[in-house]
Amino acid sequence: MPHHATLKSFALLAGLCLATPVCAAEPAATPPHHSWRFDGPLGTFDQGSLQRGFVVYDRICSTCHGMRSLTYNDLAGIGLSQKAIGDLAHSKQFPGPLDEDSQPTTRPGTPDDHFKSPFPSDAAAAAMMGGVAPPDQSRLALIKPHGADWLYAFLTGYRMPAPAGAPSAPGKFYNDWADGHLVGMPPPLVNGAVTFPDGTPATVEQQAKDVTTFLVWASDPHRNARHHIGKGVVLYLIVLLLLAYTWKKKIWKRLHGA
Ligand code: HEC
Repeated sequence: MPHHATLKSFALLAGLCLATPVCAAEPAATPPHHSWRFDGPLGTFDQGSLQRGFVVYDRICSTCHGMRSLTYNDLAGIGLSQKAIGDLAHSKQFPGPLDEDSQPTTRPGTPDDHFKSPFPSDAAAAAMMGGVAPPDQSRLALIKPHGADWLYAFLTGYRMPAPAGAPSAPGKFYNDWADGHLVGMPPPLVNGAVTFPDGTPATVEQQAKDVTTFLVWASDPHRNARHHIGKGVVLYLIVLLLLAYTWKKKIWKRLHGA
């Protein structure tokens, strides 16, 4: 029966499609879910992970991406000391005033400076990066649905060589989670490319997890403080409720006794 044959070949095609990752990861797919400590209304960030994530951002991502909305002082929010913040800012060079010969100078950064951008402008960045400027990372965790899950999937989603039959283009890299599976960013994470001060082994997965945590924090740096206040408010309301209850019982007892 011809109808039967069509159905059969359709089923075969669907099976093939599921077996090939190119097909399985079509844009409609949702990235695998991870249980992040910062998820949920009272979730808070893990400081160790934030500090490791900043190391990944500072050593790797910041060579191409800016993060203009943060100042070095904001890093107090991930537990860096004032001294560490001062030293870090001081190690970065910013454009200074012109000297007496009208020549440009540089000056060391201060804690109040915004994170140093690697390129003077988006146009300069695009010219250096084959036509596409690396997006500012201040809100990077918010640009896609399932921000954190997508970022993690994307950062660990490069495949070399690309699967057979995958799209390709010069200067582009195959990634399971990029739009159209191609992206102009070379794979940024390599096993052991950074050393974490706390001794955590710097696998690609660990770096991806920590830098994702840092980028989610960076998109809303005051969330931890807000959630701590939230917990305080809930506790206060519980105490108030208990007081109101005992008070009510007392009054009723008095009324009954009368
Ligand atoms: C060598 C330069 C370079 C480095 C290092 C780099 N990026 Fe990128 N990144 C780019 C460029 C260029 C683009 C734009 C690519 C495009 O749109 O095709 C980009 C785009 C992105 C995007 C958006 C992708 C999309 O599909 O919208 C994310 C997310 C990202 N980078 C994260 C990171 C993180 C996190 C790091 C550090 C671990 C990092 N990048 C390090 C150059 C870089």
